[in-house]
Amino acid sequence: MNAIAKFNQASADPAELRLVQDLPAISVVGLGYVGAVSVACLSALGHRVVGCDIDPVKRAAVGSGRSPIHEAGLSGLLGDGVDGQLITTTGDLVDAVTNTDVTFVSVGTPTKEGGGCDYSAIIASARAIGRALALKDARHIVVMRCSIPPGTTLNVMVPEIEAASGKTMGRDFGVCFNPEFLREGTAIEDFRAPPKTVIGASDERTARVVANIYRPVDQTPLLTTIEAAEMVKYADNVWHATKVCFANEIGRICKPLGIDSHEVMNIFVQDQKLNLSPYYLKPGFAYGGSCLPKEVRAVAHLAGEMQVDVPLIDSLASSNEVQIAEALKMVRASGATKVGFLGLAFKRGTDDLRESPILEVLNQLLEEGYDIAAHDEAITPETRISEQFSYVSSVCPHLAPTVDALPQLLNGTVEEVLDQVEVVVVTHASDTYRESLRHLGGQVRIIDLVRLFDNAPAEAQYQGIGW
Ligand SMILES: NC(=O)c1ccc[n+]([C@@H]2O[C@H](COP(=O)([O-])OP(=O)(O)OC[C@H]3O[C@@H](n4cnc5c(N)ncnc54)[C@H](O)[C@@H]3O)[C@@H](O)[C@H]2O)c1
Repeated sequence: MNAIAKFNQASADPAELRLVQDLPAISVVGLGYVGAVSVACLSALGHRVVGCDIDPVKRAAVGSGRSPIHEAGLSGLLGDGVDGQLITTTGDLVDAVTNTDVTFVSVGTPTKEGGGCDYSAIIASARAIGRALALKDARHIVVMRCSIPPGTTLNVMVPEIEAASGKTMGRDFGVCFNPEFLREGTAIEDFRAPPKTVIGASDERTARVVANIYRPVDQTPLLTTIEAAEMVKYADNVWHATKVCFANEIGRICKPLGIDSHEVMNIFVQDQKLNLSPYYLKPGFAYGGSCLPKEVRAVAHLAGEMQVDVPLIDSLASSNEVQIAEALKMVRASGATKVGFLGLAFKRGTDDLRESPILEVLNQLLEEGYDIAAHDEAITPETRISEQFSYVSSVCPHLAPTVDALPQLLNGTVEEVLDQVEVVVVTHASDTYRESLRHLGGQVRIIDLVRLFDNAPAEAQYQGIGW
């Protein structure tokens, strides 16, 4: 049974059944931008909600049905909740937790000196929650909503709760990381129509209860681990920041060229096959080929000529080099001296070797004296390798010896390569490669640059480049 089916299955535990079927009472710790919206929206779904904050001004506002922040529609919803006797507030978190079934934690996690995350509000809340759990018999659920480094829920919050309560996560109480994706200004709209609902839970019972809370606004939550849910939130925000900076750099280049940047980006966003899509968004190996490296260089050069600063675009080539260096590091760390490569072209399905990043790895290893054997489904001794390289000779003259050596390194079959090497580097997600490596056993180590396996064969000595 898959995770979703299991999670939808009714529970036999009467206490849990009550939490799923009834509307659990919810305490919300931290009544800032996230917490105040949660109080209002959860009460609008019919939950009894106790808001808790150390700030008496926010408590007083929420408790009297007024918004403590400027947010469209918030005062109205809080007013309805207070009038309907669904919303109360307190400064006593122990009391709030004791009198509810589920606690949402949305205290501040500001940046501390040095750039790290300040956990002090999380720790203070966790200790109070723990003291409350020590007083409670019923199973409680703690839902962490703060944006925090992966591992914080399990390594910072949970130990504090366990120490203060003498109870154990999973057995005595459930924990969940449920990132908040609201945008200030449209927070209520976003709560009602979330871009996604992500639930990383300590156990299925907890996931089921939390998913049920969100059921009126999202029937298909994404279930994952607590750490992955924590990382999703960071990945989202870094991605959004990347989009903003990228669009601004395109604007800075367009302006001196007299091109309307909005016209450019209006067309750009209409491409939902390659631009705004899952394409190019999975960790793997470096980019290469005859287009991306050339065009990134060209755009950086164009900006430089106009004295336009584009640090994001300028940084792409060095980020790509780091990924090439990472693959090299993995080969060196394997301790092998005989290395195989499955896939030489910059991607599968072409024989184009121009600026293929794996050739940088191969070239470096050849220089260091490694024995190399290679296979590529599209490259044969007849492939006009030297002609391809004359096109890129100005940017990779250092590859000339490798280009000359390549025909001798090529093998006709995967098996011929595997017979000669101690480690094999896979750069193409081909079914042939997957099948050959699935049954390899532990004799030849696998360095996977393309996520050939979601679950590597148990007996394989396997490493992925970003997983
Ligand atoms: N603001 C957003 O749009 C947004 C969106 C997604 C996630 N987040 C994350 O959610 C968390 C909360 O963000 P926010 O913008 O609502 O913060 P905020 O600063 O507006 O609110 C935090 C509240 O926590 C209260 N608090 C601090 N310590 C407390 C304690 N020990 N007990 C009770 N209350 C305490 C503070 O008084 C404050 O009212 C942060 O981790 C933030 O990164 C924020």
